[in-house]
Amino acid sequence: MPDYHELSSRLQALCAGESDLIAIMASVACELFHADPRFDWVGFYRNIGGETLKIGPYQGGHGCLSIPFGRGVCGAAARTRQTQIVADVNTFPGHIACAVRTRSEIVVPVIGANGALLAVLDIDSNQPDAFTLQDQIALEALMTDIFGPSNLCAAPV
Ligand code: SME
Repeated sequence: MPDYHELSSRLQALCAGESDLIAIMASVACELFHADPRFDWVGFYRNIGGETLKIGPYQGGHGCLSIPFGRGVCGAAARTRQTQIVADVNTFPGHIACAVRTRSEIVVPVIGANGALLAVLDIDSNQPDAFTLQDQIALEALMTDIFGPSNLCAAPV
C-alpha cells in the first residue's frame, strides 16, 4: 500500500495555492499512478451535469470519454456517492471494460467544499481483488484533504 499520508503531504506541497481543478486532478492522477504497482489506470471522471461523467485527467491506457450515472462502476459511485470496490470486474453488471487486462477496481466519489459531487476517482488494477478497506479509507481521506472543505491544495502556504 502506498504511504497515503506522505502522498497527501506531497500533493499539498505540489498544489499549494492552486485552485484550478484540472491542474490538481492531473497532479493527483500522476502521483497515485506512480505510487503503487497495483495501480494500472488512475483517473478522474468529472461530473458535468445531466447525470453524466466526462473523462478528466488520467494516467494509463485510453479511458472511455463519457459515462452516464446509470452505467458502470463509476456511474454507481456517482449515483450513490459511495465508494465502490469491485474485486472481480467480470461479476459487476454493466462494468465498462476500457482495458481487457482490468481485473478489479475502486471508485471513490469526490465531493467539493460545497457538498457537490465534483467527480469520481477511478483506480483500476490488472490484479484480481487488489483493493482493501485500508485503500478505501485512505483514498476517501485523500480526496477530502485535497478537494473537501479544508481544501488543503488551495490553502495559502
Ligand atoms: N471502470 C469504469 C470504466 C472506466 S475505465 O475502466 C477507465 C467503470 O466500469 O465504471
